[in-house]
Amino acid sequence: MKQVKITSELTVYDDFNELPNDIISLMEKAKEARLKAYAPYSKFLVGAAILLDNGEVVIGSNQENASYPSGLCAERTAIYYAGAKFPEAKIIKMAITAGSKSNGTETPIPPCGACRQSIAEYEVKQDLPIEIYFMGTTGKVVKSNSLANLLPLGFDRSFL
Ligand code: THU
Repeated sequence: MKQVKITSELTVYDDFNELPNDIISLMEKAKEARLKAYAPYSKFLVGAAILLDNGEVVIGSNQENASYPSGLCAERTAIYYAGAKFPEAKIIKMAITAGSKSNGTETPIPPCGACRQSIAEYEVKQDLPIEIYFMGTTGKVVKSNSLANLLPLGFDRSFL
């Protein structure tokens, strides 16, 4: 028997303005997308923006449904849109911002488990790490150098 320790390393920026310029502009696109989210049930708005290696930026926001499980998170809306529109392009960076409609939050909101699994698929497909930046509506921004770092012991095509 042995113990195995799994560690994740994250970078925390104290403020949006500390981010590199390209990430500020990517996060601004995520913020714009967030304001267009369709979230009449939870009133929790999420926006995501993805930078591709062809220079294109693809955005997504959460899309809810009266049949709740039929809705989709912002991150998956964006990543499936990128996969559908630019199937050959690699995903380099993803910026995410989230918070309720009425109250902002300074707490960085990470992608949910299902979104992590979906993003992981593309990281494996393209064999290139995806940088993820996530925040609330203001305040600190957390960066992970790869999705794998947010989803240890992930399930992928190598097991099939
Ligand atoms: N949501 C996202 O868009 N991304 C996540 O990673 C977590 C949750 C959305 C889904 C739903 O519309 C609302 O936030 C509340 O769960």
